[in-house]
Amino acid sequence: MKIFLDTANIEEIKRALDWGVLDGVTTNPTLVSKESGKGKFDEIVDEILKIVPGPVSIEVFSTDFNGMVSEAERIAKKGSNAVIKIPMGFEGLKAVKYLSKEGIRTNMTLVFTTNQAILAAKVGADYVSPFVGRLDDIGEYGMGIVENIKTVYTNYRFRTEIIVASVRHPIHVYEASLIGADVVTMPFSVLEKMVMHPKTDEGIQRFLEDAKKIKF
Ligand code: G3P
Repeated sequence: MKIFLDTANIEEIKRALDWGVLDGVTTNPTLVSKESGKGKFDEIVDEILKIVPGPVSIEVFSTDFNGMVSEAERIAKKGSNAVIKIPMGFEGLKAVKYLSKEGIRTNMTLVFTTNQAILAAKVGADYVSPFVGRLDDIGEYGMGIVENIKTVYTNYRFRTEIIVASVRHPIHVYEASLIGADVVTMPFSVLEKMVMHPKTDEGIQRFLEDAKKIKF
């Protein structure tokens, strides 16, 4: 299972890279806007593309086919690891189809149903991003969608990779891994929580105290 960070924060990305666990990054306009005090859109995106060896998803701002395609073509030139995030919809499907023929990698985002994921795969999206947390927020079982998408993609040998997105806590991560999702993209706080356990801290403390009793 690949681990992506869902962030545009350079420090968080550098820390996860340092731990050796980071396979890629996903961003969206909300995440980039949080970092806008630190530079312009292009500066932030260029820096992320430079420091991350794996795929980096960058979302378009346009909602029409022509706008999405021209933004995608501009962003794709920034680095061979750039993946263009395109929102699900009629124009989005057209754009993904066009870009996949051009050899530009895409991530179809804002996916909330299995049927939307089928269409994303049909038009050749490299990745599909079901938003589990936002479904949980409205009382639906988000991870159920991931399970269904995995079954359908296996049934028909679709090559689109599933990125579990809108992750809220570490339980989402291991549930996604049991289903066999290709990627989980998570906030930095969730990645930290995957590492930490009070019993680990307690164990280290006890060993340190007992080590003081040993004669070296
Ligand atoms: O990047 C897309 C997705 O992960 C956003 O998550 O927390 O805004 O629902 P969230």
